[in-house]
Amino acid sequence: MPTMVNVDGRLAGERDAVVSVFDHGFLFGEGVYEVMRTYRQRPFLYEPHMRRLRASADRIALPLPTTDAEIRDRITATIAAAQLPGEAYIRLLVTRGIGEIGYDPANCPAPTIVVIVKPHVELPPEAYADGVKIALVSVVRNHPDSVNPLIKSNNLLNNALAIQEALKRGAAEALMKNHRGELAECAMSNIFLVEDGAVRTPPTTAGLLAGVTRAFVLELAAKTGIRALEETLREADVATADEMFFTSTTREIVPVVRVDDHVVGSGKPGPVTQRLRAAFAEALRTV
Ligand code: PDD
Repeated sequence: MPTMVNVDGRLAGERDAVVSVFDHGFLFGEGVYEVMRTYRQRPFLYEPHMRRLRASADRIALPLPTTDAEIRDRITATIAAAQLPGEAYIRLLVTRGIGEIGYDPANCPAPTIVVIVKPHVELPPEAYADGVKIALVSVVRNHPDSVNPLIKSNNLLNNALAIQEALKRGAAEALMKNHRGELAECAMSNIFLVEDGAVRTPPTTAGLLAGVTRAFVLELAAKTGIRALEETLREADVATADEMFFTSTTREIVPVVRVDDHVVGSGKPGPVTQRLRAAFAEALRTV
């Protein structure tokens, strides 16, 4: 059974995994999530993912009494049941739970915890070898005083609308600006620009998800002797960037060679991106 689901501790196949329609995750999109993946069958960067899950839950006043160790046990059991041929994609969701229709959190006595395990699917090798095209979309990233992008929220309409626009333009990702018109992040990943050998990415105050891979790559840059800065970035910086890439758990570091019709740098994955990709691969050898 390649896809297995764990709903509140009970294992089920993909057809039998059910959550009540009275769950406020379904009714109101009230919930938070994480996406992890395994390397050599073990969830990678589990602790930072769990820290972010708890921070997201706190931001929506969602209590999560289950311990990290208990959740890890559920993930392990779900991976074992899935009997995957290779690495696992893990989606961990926590919703407000089941309750009377109405926004008062007191309606829901207990959260619902779901673990979805599927085979991890790699991007085609050409995406890394040749780079990809992204689109700078008109959909603006959520204002931090609205649904703060720091919350990894199950409420993903902002992201879905951005991706729809990118797909129409034949792009692999959607780069979004914030309400001030600065670059924020992509719909499913964080954005980095390289100029004069230094790596730049917008600060979290730009209104973006604090990506676990983003933090890992900033650390890798420091260890590799590449200057890395969190800095306000604008559309004009895309025009002068020598290289660009985006980062996420499932995609790692993906070179960006076009933003709509603009060709980035040489139009090929650049040397700094390649060095970071090599450092990433090297770091994975010891996990
Ligand atoms: N997406 N920004 C957004 C809006 C994201 O949804 C993601 C992750 C990231 C990168 O974060 P991380 O490095 O922690 O994966 C940035 C996951 C993979 C997803 O929703 O599938």
